[in-house]
Amino acid sequence: MRVLGPKLRSIGLALTLVAASVASGASSPPVTVSIHTPWAAPPLLLEILESVAVENRTAYYPLLKQLTAPSFLSQATTPKSLYEQSLKVIHDFSHVTKDALATLKLSLAIHSASAGIQAHYQLYNSIIVPERSKEPDFDPACPVWVDWYGRQVCDLQELKSIVSSGLKQYRGSIKAPTIMELDRVLPSNEPYDLFTVLYANVLDPAFVPFHQYLTQLAEEHGLRHSLRYIPASDHASQGHLSLAGFGAELALKNTDYLVIDDRDLGHDLGMQSSQKVLKQVESEADLNLGDDETPAVEPLTEGQLKGLGVSVAQHVLESKDPLNMLVKLTRDLPKYQLKVLKPEIKSDIQQEISTNSAYYGRDERNRVWLNGQTIPHHKMNPFNLLRILRRERRAIENFKTLLRSEENALKRFRDLLIDSSIEMQESTSTVVFDVRDTTQNEHGSVVTWLNDLSTDKRYVDAGWGEELYALYQPARMGSFPEIRKNYINALFALDLSSPESMELIVTELANFVQHLVPVRFGVLPLIRSENGDDLKVAMLWRHILNRNGLKAGLDFFRKVKFYDELQMRPDGKRR
Ligand SMILES: *[C@@H]1O[C@H](CO)[C@@H](O)[C@H](O)[C@H]1NC(C)=O
Repeated sequence: MRVLGPKLRSIGLALTLVAASVASGASSPPVTVSIHTPWAAPPLLLEILESVAVENRTAYYPLLKQLTAPSFLSQATTPKSLYEQSLKVIHDFSHVTKDALATLKLSLAIHSASAGIQAHYQLYNSIIVPERSKEPDFDPACPVWVDWYGRQVCDLQELKSIVSSGLKQYRGSIKAPTIMELDRVLPSNEPYDLFTVLYANVLDPAFVPFHQYLTQLAEEHGLRHSLRYIPASDHASQGHLSLAGFGAELALKNTDYLVIDDRDLGHDLGMQSSQKVLKQVESEADLNLGDDETPAVEPLTEGQLKGLGVSVAQHVLESKDPLNMLVKLTRDLPKYQLKVLKPEIKSDIQQEISTNSAYYGRDERNRVWLNGQTIPHHKMNPFNLLRILRRERRAIENFKTLLRSEENALKRFRDLLIDSSIEMQESTSTVVFDVRDTTQNEHGSVVTWLNDLSTDKRYVDAGWGEELYALYQPARMGSFPEIRKNYINALFALDLSSPESMELIVTELANFVQHLVPVRFGVLPLIRSENGDDLKVAMLWRHILNRNGLKAGLDFFRKVKFYDELQMRPDGKRR
């Protein structure tokens, strides 16, 4: 059956539906779906290289050198041994961290680098070759060549003689190739001086000496270069690439759809092996669900239905192989539902599930969380998961470095923010000040905080939690998560002698605090005179606070303000 073919092909992918030829008994054979690229599969070696570069950019050139060494390639003769040997090198030389090795394997499994390599080939075949073929001495069959300031250099000796005649004349030449998005430039000590592109089929024997020489030039002459891939001459005859990580929907829209069974037409696109893998997955999982019995779907009562989700969760959690159990149950739940319901729900599992739903809301929607953040359904695919996993890993790495030397990290961060070399910008919103008060003395800090979300009783009484999970939850527009932590601090530098300042403190700020706005408010007396009112009121405020506490201080301002209002003339001016 070819059902969705033309439509999907138009977005660049060909999809073929293949049915199993190994029909078992009388039941109809299952439909297997696989998606293939319209282009030929790129060499595995390049996929490995590109995928490693995504995890760790610096590892690209060292690994390139190792994987293209003749001694390495002579051992790795099959794709399987190439894969295993490469991973061994990557591991042994710590090109990526242990955690990154897992995402590397996943990205190889879904061939996430293949489109990028195809972009190299596309660039070469549809732009570089037609463009250069206009020149008389261009050889399109040359498997490894350097774009030397507009000239194709296919012979290493020729390149060496160009270099020996001096590189100075090429500095700043307009004939230098432009750097593109897909370039991974080998850095050199001298920036932006000399740049060239090596076009190569990295599996060609000519590649290694060329690349070695260019690397030497980078070290000795500051010549930077980038590698762009050329397809091997027999590339087009390679098989297409089976893609993993995509889903497909089989939609029969019309009941009188004319189905032509063309399953025996010989399109066996690796289907048997995928059947084998599925069988293997099933047999490896010790599922104990009595597979051999004839499937009998018994209806559930309404009461049983209610607890089904939790029962399934318990079954999966307690399985020796939870992932396979989950896959198995979700693939054929009606078959197993009664068995799954049999054991009692354990109280700790019940407890954990209710705690979790208290955090995340009790609505009935299905959701997936990764480190506490919700992944929307439409983004639930391996490519996006890979991106999120990498981002989370990077964040965790950063936290680890921060925590290892918290003092240092904070100080460096602060220095960065208030770097004196940063000139005052026109818009003050971009200027950052460090408002933390480090002048603790026997009188306490000069900053007066009106509230403390982490200790004040009013936030406990209001039932606020301490968990930072709430920060992950989408908040209503204009509202902040209610957490008992001082995670937003607002400091007001005020001339306390001005009635407007007093007004601000005793009405607005005090109001915000009373109405549980989740911000910590602080007041810093602003003193500009030698011995003026600003200094005197600030000292008074300090004195009252130290002796009688914050409430007395606020009362003091209320009274002064009241007195001040009495002094107002009807026209608003002070007497
Ligand atoms: C990245 O690769 C380089 C070169 O192999 C290695 O020295 C470095 O430790 C790697 N960094 C990470 C974070 O894996």
